[in-house]
Amino acid sequence: MKKKINIAIDGYSSCGKSTIAKGIARELNYVYIDSGAMYRAVTLFALNHGYIRTDGALDDQGLEKALDLVLINFRYNTDLAANETFLNGQNVEREIRSIQVSNHVSAVSNVKAVRNKLVKLQRRIAEQKGVVMDGRDIGTVVIPDAELKFFMTADSKVRAKRRFDELKSQGVETSLEEVLRNVNSRDEYDSSRANDPLRKAADAITIDNTDLTIEEQFQFVMGHAMRRIDALQGVRG
Ligand code: DC
Repeated sequence: MKKKINIAIDGYSSCGKSTIAKGIARELNYVYIDSGAMYRAVTLFALNHGYIRTDGALDDQGLEKALDLVLINFRYNTDLAANETFLNGQNVEREIRSIQVSNHVSAVSNVKAVRNKLVKLQRRIAEQKGVVMDGRDIGTVVIPDAELKFFMTADSKVRAKRRFDELKSQGVETSLEEVLRNVNSRDEYDSSRANDPLRKAADAITIDNTDLTIEEQFQFVMGHAMRRIDALQGVRG
């Protein structure tokens, strides 16, 4: 059997990271892990349990104390051919994509205890190899030894429009302006936060997909992945 590699895909919000990551995982028969979904699930927990007050302030100490009560896992849905996110046994895949969760997830993901918990979980999953994981700190913090790393970016207006179309198709009511505001503010917060900010790993390959089709990006990433996997087969270990 061919040796498996890990692939890290980091980048800005709504860059299409998950579309590419999912496609690559499917093609290689690897596991796709959406690390953002984990931060979103903790945010939903915080909203549901009053750790985000009505004025929007986050009670980070209260949330930290309650973190042992947060159980996150993924289950594969064969009909969708995709993983779905479960929070304490409940399918929250849809709820975690709401604009309310999106508006608070950056603050929640800056809580050190939240990151420690989720990074530990992500590293445990990656140990098995054959994982395609997307997020903000996958190539820099979670699996810095990943055999292949990508950093995705695109014009923020293009990203907001893609995200808006996606939300609309899911029946989520919002406006393009609101989505653009959310994309811009999350990028700024995620890049400047104190804990594990969004950064390009020195050895990551940049993909600016403003003018690229999904197929073009997929072929580009697959080309790199196949070369890396083939190169590994000659190595003993
Ligand atoms: O990938 P996404 O947009 O669903 O992620 C939601 C938020 O989670 C993002 O704004 C920042 C945070 N996040 C993070 O801090 N680290 C990751 N590895 C993934 C996401």
